[in-house]
Amino acid sequence: MHDPAVLRNLHRDRYHAEPALFAAPGRVNLIGEHTDYAEGFVMPAAINFATLAAISPRSDGKIAIYSENYEEEKSYDAAALPAKGIGHWSDYPMGVVSILAGEGHRIPGFSLTIWGDVPLGSGLSSSAAIEVATALAVLSQVGAEYPGPVLARLCQRAENEYVGSSCGIMDQFISINAKENHALLLDCRDLSYKLAPIPDHVALVIANTMVKHSVAGGDYPTRRRESEAACAIIASHRANVPFLRDATLEDLEKWGSEMEPKPLMRARHVIGENLRTVAACEALLRGDMKELGRLMAEAHQSYSGDFEGSCVEADAMVELAQGLPGLIGARLTGGGFGGCTVNLVEQKEAAGFAAELGKRYTARFGIVPQIHVCHASSGAHRLA
Ligand code: GLA
Repeated sequence: MHDPAVLRNLHRDRYHAEPALFAAPGRVNLIGEHTDYAEGFVMPAAINFATLAAISPRSDGKIAIYSENYEEEKSYDAAALPAKGIGHWSDYPMGVVSILAGEGHRIPGFSLTIWGDVPLGSGLSSSAAIEVATALAVLSQVGAEYPGPVLARLCQRAENEYVGSSCGIMDQFISINAKENHALLLDCRDLSYKLAPIPDHVALVIANTMVKHSVAGGDYPTRRRESEAACAIIASHRANVPFLRDATLEDLEKWGSEMEPKPLMRARHVIGENLRTVAACEALLRGDMKELGRLMAEAHQSYSGDFEGSCVEADAMVELAQGLPGLIGARLTGGGFGGCTVNLVEQKEAAGFAAELGKRYTARFGIVPQIHVCHASSGAHRLA
């Protein structure tokens, strides 16, 4: 994580005011992909990359937001908030401001400096980290607080309603509710969750294919629509299947023939993935790393095959990890079509694993991947 003292100085120099500081982490999803918007299960962990936010009040009614990553400032009038995003980085923080205003909070003028080290467009939820850091910062000015699950829903709405991306709730939820050294099994229907300790001997090795990922782009919403089309066919036969969470593999056997081929494949992924995710949490809880690794491998195959959510580089990154000393399980993580793989690796082998995987990937593609040995971090909080 970036040094908060540096952010404080940046903010002081620019705005001549003493800020309150907040941090919100990015995440890696161990298993459960494209299940959140189907009201199913996901099992992410927060990582030691975060967005930091520094905030101080202003008396001129303006909202000034400076991004150190983009080296740009954008300013808005607190009394005339835009209703929708404008396709700019400031949409993410402003989406949160707009949703909080819609909840009845009077938004005062403030200066906000944001600075993150969550790699952008890598499927590690840099957007959610910005939203959550902003939410905590703005709430501190408004003098309000929300329970974690409620705040996660507000941040998700910022992205759905203001930014215009159709993401589910996983990323915002884990950024707020994560616990150090734990993965979190989330039931995306009622937002109940279970924490599962990640044993000390296991490292999270995150390997960036360097292929850009985007939720707002075309493929993510297409996959979501295809899954929902499959669900509608099942629902036309069987009541109480509003989401694929409620569907079974038997439903696909019975009515899959009425589906177009792509929706059938997407549904097979989502239904199987829900089962795998619950089983993976049980495996982690009883310390059965072999079974967890097997489920991750199966999940990757399904994500790449039935869901067609992977890409050549991500498939190769998973394949190249096979047989390396210490590997427990590997799969593409996050929204798909690029981004990072997550590798569970024996801690004592992690550095060697990362080096060798990088070498193999560079030999295959001529691209040097960023590979990070991470640990599961705590959720968003105030720093000072
Ligand atoms: C992105 C979205 C999440 C989730 C994943 C896929 O990260 O923001 O809500 O749908 O993709 O599992």
